[in-house]
Amino acid sequence: MDSIIVTGNGPLNGQIPIAGAKNACLTLMPATLLSEEPLTLTNAPRLSDIRTMSALLQSLGAEVSQLQDGKVLAMSSHALDNHRAEYDIVRKMRASILVLGPMLARDGHAVVSLPGGCAIGARPVDMHLRALEQLGAEMDLRDGYVHARAPKGLKGATVEFPFASVGATENLLMAATLARGTTQLKNAAREPEIVDLARCLERMGAQIQGAGTDTITVQGVDRLGGATHPVVADRIELGTYMLAPAVCGGEVECLGGNLELVGTFVDKLQEAGVEVSQTQAGVKVARRNGRVRAVDVTTAPFPGFPTDLQAQMMALMCTAEGTSVLEERIFENRFMHAPELMRMGARIDVQGGVATVTGVERLKGAPVMATDLRASISLILAGLAAEGETIVNRVYHLDRGYERVEEKLSGVGAKIERVNEQ
Ligand code: EPZ
Repeated sequence: MDSIIVTGNGPLNGQIPIAGAKNACLTLMPATLLSEEPLTLTNAPRLSDIRTMSALLQSLGAEVSQLQDGKVLAMSSHALDNHRAEYDIVRKMRASILVLGPMLARDGHAVVSLPGGCAIGARPVDMHLRALEQLGAEMDLRDGYVHARAPKGLKGATVEFPFASVGATENLLMAATLARGTTQLKNAAREPEIVDLARCLERMGAQIQGAGTDTITVQGVDRLGGATHPVVADRIELGTYMLAPAVCGGEVECLGGNLELVGTFVDKLQEAGVEVSQTQAGVKVARRNGRVRAVDVTTAPFPGFPTDLQAQMMALMCTAEGTSVLEERIFENRFMHAPELMRMGARIDVQGGVATVTGVERLKGAPVMATDLRASISLILAGLAAEGETIVNRVYHLDRGYERVEEKLSGVGAKIERVNEQ
């Protein structure tokens, strides 16, 4: 298993290119199952999760070619010869559940392994299943799999989600494009990845209104065509790298970044005393004068503060002036980075879904353990400014969501290297 060694090395300066969004690509890829025509995605991120989704689609009979070093995904599924998503692939990546809606909509049947939980929570998919039943699907859960059928095809309906679930909104949005009649999704998720998915589906011929608001209306069509679609920039990678100069000092321009993708997060950075501005090329972030100020954060569905940036923000608050309260309201167990940050000298008190962080002058490097994707990058951020050397173990978590992290950070002056341990 690889480790990454980070050594505190002073302020960062330069430019970091932002890749296409992992969480957009993971829902855009299953959209190929909706059409017999080719779907090509450009600006795709080079990540292990994308390779896992490619393997899953190929196991169903779709063709997926990774071109231009993985930045282009050329896919087509003119005929699916398998409608069963196996547990050994699904357990590696929960987003696999997103093949359910498209397969049901296109061929009227699908068998998909239940994803199971992960480190940050139980992660049920009940909302996906209940909503698809409202479109006429029959769901039978047995031996750890969802056996879904819609022998008469899917029929449009009005669906109200109990919670603005990102995945449930994406599954239903894709399924509704081929359902007979009109579907209305209420209390829909509003994340930029949903808007990007809707844009791609519209390019394929879908008729969608309201993506990005809490009510999405879809007029079903008989069939969808092919398309070429650029994956939207990754707002979580953007937010993560905006925090690097905030933690270390200096000035970094995140190329391809757009402030609209990270609204609430930027408000919090500016409240903490970090300078943020939009440039022609991307988003520029600077911290020049001393420690940042402590700020309070509560995670919420978009446009609220993203849960996927909570761990990274905690790394910044560890050396802020004052005490900050971070409340995690989306997942039930998303503070596993806290004990690792405490090994570096951070002062954090976790009570249920609330972490209280009392800033210290400087953290000290230490060997730490990555537990999940966003926790791993928060430890890297903490190590960038810590005194001495931090060794982050189990960085396979990191490779799921951050392409070439050593290259991008060393490009702005960080002292960071990957160690391959047999
Ligand atoms: C997506 O997960 C993202 N993953 C997550 O990013 C992100 O943290 C999350 O949205 C919230 O923004 C992808 O897009 C691949 P949800 P998803 O459905 O769709 C509960 C990362 O680090 N829930 O909005 O699974 C659920 O347990 C990952 O890139 C149900 O109870 O998120 C959670 O507590 C981590 N029943 C909450 O809702 C359901 O049927 C939010 O889940 C569905 C969800």
